[in-house]
Amino acid sequence: MRISIVGCGYVGLVTGGCLAAVGHQVNCADSDAERVRALVAGHIPIYEPHLEEVISRARSDKRIEFTGNLAAAVESAEAIFICVGTPPLENGEADLSAIDAVARVIATEARGPKLVIEKSTVPVRTGEQLRRALEVYGRTSGAKFQVVSNPEFLREGSSVCDFLHPDRIVVGVDEPAAAEKMREIYRSILERKFQCPVHNGACPPGAPPQFVVTTINSSELIKHASNSFLALKISYANQLADLCERLGADVEEVTRAMGLDPRIGPQFLRAGIGFGGFCFPKDIQAFYRLAERAGMDFMLLKEAERINKSRIDQFVEKARRALWVLKGKQVSVLGLSFKPNTDDIRFAPALEIVRRLLAEGAMVHAYDPQGMKKTQAEFPTVKYCENAYDAVSGADAVLLLTEWPEFRELDWARVHGMMVRPLVLDGRNLLDPGKMRGLGFEYHCIGRPD
Ligand SMILES: NC(=O)c1ccc[n+]([C@@H]2O[C@H](COP(=O)([O-])OP(=O)(O)OC[C@H]3O[C@@H](n4cnc5c(N)ncnc54)[C@H](O)[C@@H]3O)[C@@H](O)[C@H]2O)c1
Repeated sequence: MRISIVGCGYVGLVTGGCLAAVGHQVNCADSDAERVRALVAGHIPIYEPHLEEVISRARSDKRIEFTGNLAAAVESAEAIFICVGTPPLENGEADLSAIDAVARVIATEARGPKLVIEKSTVPVRTGEQLRRALEVYGRTSGAKFQVVSNPEFLREGSSVCDFLHPDRIVVGVDEPAAAEKMREIYRSILERKFQCPVHNGACPPGAPPQFVVTTINSSELIKHASNSFLALKISYANQLADLCERLGADVEEVTRAMGLDPRIGPQFLRAGIGFGGFCFPKDIQAFYRLAERAGMDFMLLKEAERINKSRIDQFVEKARRALWVLKGKQVSVLGLSFKPNTDDIRFAPALEIVRRLLAEGAMVHAYDPQGMKKTQAEFPTVKYCENAYDAVSGADAVLLLTEWPEFRELDWARVHGMMVRPLVLDGRNLLDPGKMRGLGFEYHCIGRPD
């Protein structure tokens, strides 16, 4: 099928690349001219494992192209995936202006019938507004539109794999024919019949994905409800960590045993400095505001968000307690991205911690395998280092803020010898406390006895 993707960010590029990989003809459009120039020149502007190979293979198979001409992208496609950003407004609600702008272009440029698919995360009832906008702006063109909600559940860092091997594909429709078209788009993924660009014929075994057809309102709600639930789970683990610290228990032991219960599951129970990224913080706020507008005080969500924000205060306080005075101290930060295997720094807890350290007069040296380029503009006074060893050299303290596996593998005995004071604050419980203390470190972590 001829498919257009509007919005070439994390979701747009993964969606476009993967749909091309399973045999569709994909045209990706974006309003950011610089981004389009980079993509046309063969440069992928984000770091995401496997994405570069997937897109470059699709390009050599002539299955994918990139354009700044939204009108042409709309006109050429039978199905259009809207993948633009929905960032938070100041009041926490989702900013839907990019969706509105795209709806106008689709409505005015379409000359034939189009399947218009909301892939961006949007509040419930956006589909209704989208359909209305398409009708109003497109009243003179005579084109017919079918609106579908198809939320994306990928995780940055493993998004290509998640897209090609999902647990479920949710489609919200208001007519069965639209669901059938969506099934057609995803057929090879649903039937696991494609040449997998990640596993090269050796995909991990597993049940094929469920194809879940709902109303558009339910589908939109499923996405916000899922992200908010995961955020709740993280905040629960974090609050549990605080209790463990007070009672002398070890949160890692507690959550490991909890997670063995299949009703609970092990994921999203890791205590640390809290969740960040472009999804959880904004989605939980948008969901809360949505409930409020519907006349309901969804306090549980507000509390999860409050707990998450307080992680930063608590961690900075821990650093302050350990270092006594932050002003003039060299604090070395390992990890800036909001999680490992991505260069995405949006709403990353590490950034807020860096901001606080700088405000208190600390000299921040930092290293992140992928996130430094995007951080430089925001914090020009930070010293960005070539590698973790450069970053820790001469440090009064090391703050481990993103759980990149390579930080676990560092030669910590060597690090010990390079620091002015061997103090490590592990915000992700990545390291082994016994081993760190055995090496002579003063080591603090989250929810594990000191
Ligand atoms: N990042 C994730 O892990 C993730 C996962 C699931 C869902 N989502 C949702 O998907 C959506 C996109 O997220 P993202 O992380 O890819 O965002 P992003 O900011 O990385 O990408 C958005 C892209 O849309 C482009 N754009 C904005 N306005 C446009 C317009 N009017 N016309 C054409 N292009 C336009 C931007 O230039 C940018 O390239 C959001 O709603 C997000 O909540 C994100």
